[in-house]
Amino acid sequence: MSKFEVNGRTYAAEPKPGQCLRTFLRDLEVFGVKKGCDAGDCGACTVWIDGQPFHSCLVPAFRGEGRKVTTIEGLSKDGKLHPIQQAFHDAQAFQCGYCAAGMMMTTASAAFDQHRKDDLPHALKGNICRCTGYRSIVDALHGKSNIEDDVAGKALGASLPNPFTDAILTGQARYTMDIAIEGLLHMKVLRSPHAHARIKSVDKKKALAIPGVVAAYTWEDVPRRLFSTALHEDHLVDPDDTYMLDNVARFAGQRIAMVVAETEGAAEAGCRALQVEYEILPAVFDP
Ligand code: FES
Ligand code: FES
Repeated sequence: MSKFEVNGRTYAAEPKPGQCLRTFLRDLEVFGVKKGCDAGDCGACTVWIDGQPFHSCLVPAFRGEGRKVTTIEGLSKDGKLHPIQQAFHDAQAFQCGYCAAGMMMTTASAAFDQHRKDDLPHALKGNICRCTGYRSIVDALHGKSNIEDDVAGKALGASLPNPFTDAILTGQARYTMDIAIEGLLHMKVLRSPHAHARIKSVDKKKALAIPGVVAAYTWEDVPRRLFSTALHEDHLVDPDDTYMLDNVARFAGQRIAMVVAETEGAAEAGCRALQVEYEILPAVFDP
């Protein structure tokens, strides 16, 4: 059994073949490490390996063996926030907080020197935030406070800290994806590689034979009911023009089939095992 040191605690565990460090850590219930893009772009999964920040979704799990792995849960010491956590607290440098762990693991590392601080847009290019607009994150890194004291009778209109601040900044807050639900099934979608094609057939046999695969759906298995993806206020301005699964692909990336399985890996393997016969049609560039 391999040994991993995470936040000073030793785990004896074997990563699954091909598993990335991020998923391995989350399997150990180190849920402060977030899953975002899965592609090395968003930085929500940033952890330290021997003190250096890495996007853990890009690091094979076995590379963490024998190294010191630090996640947001290991940043504060003796119940005291790390100075970066305190700065994020004071500036309230988060909204939903999903990016905060990665932001702090990047900016608290020794590699984040003054030179990087002076060029934040470049230095933070590996950490994306969808909510804050970055202003409060920049405030945190410049030591600015955005909170006021909670004075009895004067709280209305005051800038009080989010009540979940400490949980978010220490990696203890639980997001939907961090809750282990017994019997949870996972779904993966097979998407069209073609800009325009008719789906002549989808053979599901090999997919359904994969251990853990529970079901596979194609256009023949779902209600043939059109809906609109536009969702404007007035429903009548948007045409109902989309099927959940269609027998014609009209753009590369369109949903073709869905596989439901006990694990994400089995669902992905199920998608790969689907045999789709396409009749490729000319791409349409003019409506
Ligand atoms: S999940 Fe790793 S960079 Fe987005
Ligand atoms: S606070 Fe929501 S993604 Fe950054």
